[in-house]
Amino acid sequence: MSTPIPGPAGWPFLGNVNDIDPEVPIKSLMDIADKYGSIYSLSILGKRRVIVSSVELMNEICDEKRFGKVVTAALGEVRNLTGDGLFTAHNGEHNWEVAHRVLVPAFGPLNIRSMFDDMKDIASQLVMKWARHGNDYKIHVTDDFTRLTLDTLALCSMDYRFNSFYAEQMHPFVDAMVNVLSESGARIRRPGFLAALYRKEEYQYWKDIKYMRELSLELVQNRKKHPGQRKDLLHAMIHGKDPRNGDSLSDDSIIDNLVTSLIAGHETTSGLLSFLFYYLLKNPSAYKKAQEEVDQVIGDASIKVEHLSKLPYINAVLRETLRLQPTAPAFSIQPNNEVDTIGGEYTVFKGEPIIALLPKIHRDPAVYGEDANEFKPERMLDENFNKLPPNAWKPFGNGSRACIGRPFAWQEAQLVVAMLLQYFDFTLDDAKYDLQIKSTLTIKPNHLYMHAQLRHGRT
Ligand code: HEM
Repeated sequence: MSTPIPGPAGWPFLGNVNDIDPEVPIKSLMDIADKYGSIYSLSILGKRRVIVSSVELMNEICDEKRFGKVVTAALGEVRNLTGDGLFTAHNGEHNWEVAHRVLVPAFGPLNIRSMFDDMKDIASQLVMKWARHGNDYKIHVTDDFTRLTLDTLALCSMDYRFNSFYAEQMHPFVDAMVNVLSESGARIRRPGFLAALYRKEEYQYWKDIKYMRELSLELVQNRKKHPGQRKDLLHAMIHGKDPRNGDSLSDDSIIDNLVTSLIAGHETTSGLLSFLFYYLLKNPSAYKKAQEEVDQVIGDASIKVEHLSKLPYINAVLRETLRLQPTAPAFSIQPNNEVDTIGGEYTVFKGEPIIALLPKIHRDPAVYGEDANEFKPERMLDENFNKLPPNAWKPFGNGSRACIGRPFAWQEAQLVVAMLLQYFDFTLDDAKYDLQIKSTLTIKPNHLYMHAQLRHGRT
């Protein structure tokens, strides 16, 4: 006997569209979970979605023998930009398989280590900017971290300098990307027959997509003409061969994956760094421990890649930040078979997205205790982290479709946090600031400002 999946009643045709705040959909999904529990369903424009928010159910849906990624909702719209690139490919698409096998080694530990100097180059530009501006300068936290992560990705993956720290305005590529992402979210809330009313938005959306792809094509062509010595991601995309069948990536697939890296990699990491500073500033004892660790391990020295493996507390701070604020806050899967049952009683069907609601799964009191909503990095130190039940911490997604850029993001974040704590003392601009979330495809803190005071002896 199948138990009906609970959920709020909706309107005819529109379903539960009005139950979701378009500005911060993830907050609405969390609020509904508080009311309906670890599994509920919503109907959006006639299509059912199942939302899962306990570790127990998560553990079940992470079984790749039974469930696989589905590209749906806003991600389906992003496909207009990135085609069958890694992030937006449907399970089993040939180009995904080739790109996956070619690019997994390019994101391997040795290659990521070799990107350390380029990462440090961009991190030093951020340090210089904040040092020059001085303590009175009100730092727009997410804005500066977005400059940092975008410049780092572009430099490390394709030897391109956006030079975001040398311009007042963000590079036009960033504006185009932000617009395409937010429009991708807006498009799914509009029934198709209303599209004609949004001609201006549609025009800009397709113009931005064209611009981003053309700029990427220029980069690819330029590299093909002037190959140079660099062994970065672009090199791997152009010259890599699928070890299974010898296939290479077509120019279209290279562009899909170049743009994918920028999209998938910069906002997620920028959000992580922004949330991390928010939590440190709200938790002075954690802040102190993190800074003391940097002082003990690195002191006044210029940071080296070898230092990064000696920062267990900062590692725990990163994990705890992504537990509370997984910056890619949800991913969707569907059953491999036509019908399946989860939790022993709920029937789910192929083609119906099941959404893993990470901020709730990561706060499941059955795993994280009654203080699950609190920021406590200690629970994420190796000795505790390694004892977590399977699939209790999944900010980087699942299985074969998990994040390929995880080692890149981790090294970058460790480096930046360590350098910033080494050079500066930080304070919130408004000590009473309470976290507000801004949401596109990813989440980040909204209206977060801080000040940076150079520490004694640092120049
Ligand atoms: C996939 C999170 C950084 C590239 C994913 C997925 C998640 C995720 C949850 C799975 C999405 C799904 O199942 O639909 C994050 C977080 C990051 C981060 C939290 C930083 C803190 C990066 C970086 C890059 C990157 C730096 C690139 C340099 C990708 C790609 C995929 C992916 C290409 C698709 C993999 C595939 O399906 O084959 N990421 N990501 N990510 N991420 Fe990341």
